[in-house]
Amino acid sequence: MPTDQSSLEIGVLNRLRILCISETGWFDTNTVFNDIRCAGGVDVDQYGIPWPPFGDLHADNAAGFAALLEAETADGAHHRVLFDTGWNPAWMDRRFAEEGIDRLLQDGEIGALVISHEHFDHFWGIGSALRHRPDITLYIPDGLSSQGLAFIKEQGHVGKLVKVPLGQPLSLIPGLAVVNFPTHALLRIESENVLYAQIRDRGMAMMTGCGHGGVLNLLDYARSTFRGGDRIFALYGGLHISPLEDWDESRDQILESLGRYGIAKLACNHCTGRRAVEKMVEAGLPVTHGTARNGSQNELFVGNGDVVELA
Ligand SMILES: [Fe+2]
Ligand SMILES: [Fe+2]
Repeated sequence: MPTDQSSLEIGVLNRLRILCISETGWFDTNTVFNDIRCAGGVDVDQYGIPWPPFGDLHADNAAGFAALLEAETADGAHHRVLFDTGWNPAWMDRRFAEEGIDRLLQDGEIGALVISHEHFDHFWGIGSALRHRPDITLYIPDGLSSQGLAFIKEQGHVGKLVKVPLGQPLSLIPGLAVVNFPTHALLRIESENVLYAQIRDRGMAMMTGCGHGGVLNLLDYARSTFRGGDRIFALYGGLHISPLEDWDESRDQILESLGRYGIAKLACNHCTGRRAVEKMVEAGLPVTHGTARNGSQNELFVGNGDVVELA
């Protein structure tokens, strides 16, 4: 680790392709939050809520977040990383099959699985991936609960398990790193892994599951830590700006600040909030639109089955 933190060199990718396997954590937000309220509120232990795969509470509402990253490193080699595994095994089995992820896992074509955080909609579908590749190398944020660790074992994981330490960037492949950030998110989630890539001649890309650490904090971390981190080329994933579609002045300020980073591609989905993306479009920010297929409901989001090319 260099002494000058802002000069941490993570290497460079020739290109990065992101396939959105599923960004629909769930289909109806009121249903999920009513379930949480009935279970005791936002500070309860998520494992006490009988959602799939632990029960069948509103199973039809449960989906999940997962993406496939396909990277070409400077030496021309190709690498694939699965980022999150969604929630409902029935939904994830379907989406993994529709996008050919099951076959890629079986053939050993996916080198690693990174779990962003322990929230049900990112993590509870892990069995749908592990059943095709139980020995996959798995990166989790250090701080996962004992129930979460037990669940990984129960779902059959026998491969290498890497607990990403808080605040210490870890290289996945040259040009792609993972960093674990502390968070205080609902249902007692205390940490979240974020991915950073350096794309040749373009700049950095940041990939978030929910971005509970705050999008501006996560961008400022890149600026102050990575060589080239002051040039952010693209964002992908959940930015957690207006997940409940409410709005206030503080969110206007977040978008105003976001506009000053000079980002060329904003490929948002999941918990970003439609309201937030509408306002980005109104402000003239370069939003990448999706096709609203496969369960995704709005073209403002890069949706299920959509691809973002970063090169
Ligand atoms: Fe989420
Ligand atoms: Fe989350």
